[in-house]
Amino acid sequence: MFILSFCLLSIIYIVKCDVTDGGKAPRIQLNDGNMMPVMGLGTFLGFDEKGQKEVREKEVELPVLWALKAGYRMLDTASAYNNEEQVGKAIQRSNVPRKDVFIVTKLGSHEQREVLSSLRASLDRLNTTYIDLYLIHNPVAYKPDKSGYDIVDYLDTWKAMEQAKKMGLARSIGISNFNITMMERLLAHCQIKPSVLQVEVNVNLAQNKLLEFTKREGIEVMAYAPFGSLFVKDSGPPPPRVNDPGLVKMAQKYRKTVPQIVLRYLVQRGVIPIPKSVRKEKIVENINIFDFELSTEEMDEISKFNKDYRVVWPSFWQDHPYYPFEKKDKPDPDLFKPKP
Ligand SMILES: NC(=O)c1ccc[n+]([C@@H]2O[C@H](COP(=O)([O-])OP(=O)(O)OC[C@H]3O[C@@H](n4cnc5c(N)ncnc54)[C@H](OP(=O)(O)O)[C@@H]3O)[C@@H](O)[C@H]2O)c1
Ligand SMILES: *[C@@H]1O[C@H](CO)[C@@H](O)[C@H](O)[C@H]1NC(C)=O
Ligand SMILES: *[C@@H]1O[C@H](CO)[C@@H](O)[C@H](O)[C@H]1NC(C)=O
Repeated sequence: MFILSFCLLSIIYIVKCDVTDGGKAPRIQLNDGNMMPVMGLGTFLGFDEKGQKEVREKEVELPVLWALKAGYRMLDTASAYNNEEQVGKAIQRSNVPRKDVFIVTKLGSHEQREVLSSLRASLDRLNTTYIDLYLIHNPVAYKPDKSGYDIVDYLDTWKAMEQAKKMGLARSIGISNFNITMMERLLAHCQIKPSVLQVEVNVNLAQNKLLEFTKREGIEVMAYAPFGSLFVKDSGPPPPRVNDPGLVKMAQKYRKTVPQIVLRYLVQRGVIPIPKSVRKEKIVENINIFDFELSTEEMDEISKFNKDYRVVWPSFWQDHPYYPFEKKDKPDPDLFKPKP
């Protein structure tokens, strides 16, 4: 009897926890039934004086390999990051089964008129047969030769994204850098709802209205730039910095670090952070946030840092009709434009 009930219990347990992917982050169910880890690794290397940074050999492959070994099971890449090949190689080298890795990649702004062929090119570079989550990177489109803006209605792009899901090339589909107005329009016309919205969320940019909206609509929010201005050296952006006394105190209480506190804060808010690091020790540090819990009081204290301040504010796109954010009086120079 005991043995029988033990077996039954085990079976129930296995069925309930069928996402034994060997990783550290639990998974949540998306609105299409697929399961997604609640944290991932960001892989965008950012910009230098010359524009978008060149990706050197193994510069992304090694961090992704370390991440998979450290218990990450979600990787965030994009056609625009020029690193999908390295992500694919790292997955191969890690020996983590493909089915246990959740790959997120994105349709580039210049690829919006060619969704299926662009997706196939991403699949080739990643050396895989399906993407777990394919996102429209930005509602702002560029001409295929990147020579300037293109005006592509995101409703048309979305139709092709739906096609990609129906064909099984992308198991889930979603959007990035869309605002509420655009999502309302998309939801009114789509056949398949987006499962995920990827936008900036951090302690400075709480996105309260956006999160209320996505919650109501059953869309999960993936947080890019999850550290906000935590590591910024100058005093321009609003606090907190990594040495903020209140956050340091919390970190000491849980024997954690301040970066771990702010990541945990996001997870407890129900958003999915994708912190980027190329340093092994930081990669390991960032995923180790699933063994403690911030109190309601601590969550409230952290939420007071919100200033609706954006780190990623591509105002150089603001004269495009589908620019999603607030406009600036004087837009910044275009970071994506390669300098001669
Ligand atoms: N959809 C979009 O339009 C969009 C836009 C922006 C970003 N993203 C995605 O979101 C990811 C994350 O955003 P992000 O890279 O802009 O910003 P982020 O993850 O908030 O911050 C990355 C910075 O923090 C440093 N760092 C990471 N962990 C640390 C730690 N524990 N202690 C100290 N420093 C630490 C990194 O340096 P090291 O690497 O030197 O450790 C890097 O300079 C990107 O990589 C990309 O995948 C998407
Ligand atoms: C691509 O994947 C196949 C197996 O899925 C593997 O044999 C091959 O080595 C991989 N190629 C690269 C470049 O990693
Ligand atoms: C959302 O994006 C649309 C462009 O499609 C723009 O007209 C509108 O001003 C944006 N809303 C906000 C709040 O920035």
